[in-house]
Amino acid sequence: MTTGIDLSQPQAQAIRSDEDVVRVRQLVRTVAVAAKLSLVDQTKVVTAASELARNTLVYGGGGGVEVTIVDNGRRRGVRIVFADSGPGIADLDLALTDGYTTGGGLGLGLSGARRLVDEFDIDTGAGKGTRVSVTKWAR
Ligand SMILES: Nc1ncnc2c1ncn2[C@@H]1O[C@H](COP(=O)(O)OP(=O)(O)OP(=O)(O)O)[C@@H](O)[C@H]1O
Ligand SMILES: [Mg+2]
Repeated sequence: MTTGIDLSQPQAQAIRSDEDVVRVRQLVRTVAVAAKLSLVDQTKVVTAASELARNTLVYGGGGGVEVTIVDNGRRRGVRIVFADSGPGIADLDLALTDGYTTGGGLGLGLSGARRLVDEFDIDTGAGKGTRVSVTKWAR
């Protein structure tokens, strides 16, 4: 399959609309296939990315994402980094609690995304925006 994109380079996508969230899902799926993730793991990482992209849009006021194939010498995987310059998250432990929401959602996006990936890192704080990095490895 040819995708017309150079997967040796990070792929950037803006997140400014619902359509962009769909584009993020498609991009992550394409890169996960290229990294040879199983169908189940593709779906897990796409689901996590969808939740994080929606948070970037809704709470972060929009932002962007970079999707990269990574290789640690043993495995290939997909790394996805979301960044926004929104209000940030003052209490990260609270935000990661199942059911906690400030927006009338289910409060399962962040906590669920964390469970669906192998590595999950957040850099955030009140007034400093939010950067979320997730990695899923092929097994
Ligand atoms: N990028 C972000 N910037 C600022 N706050 C955020 C960001 N992402 C998440 N949050 C905060 O963390 C809370 C929990 O996020 P989470 O995705 O778990 O739940 P939700 O988006 O409220 O509901 P759901 O994702 O289940 O529809 C959000 O309600 C919001 O307060
Ligand atoms: Mg959410």
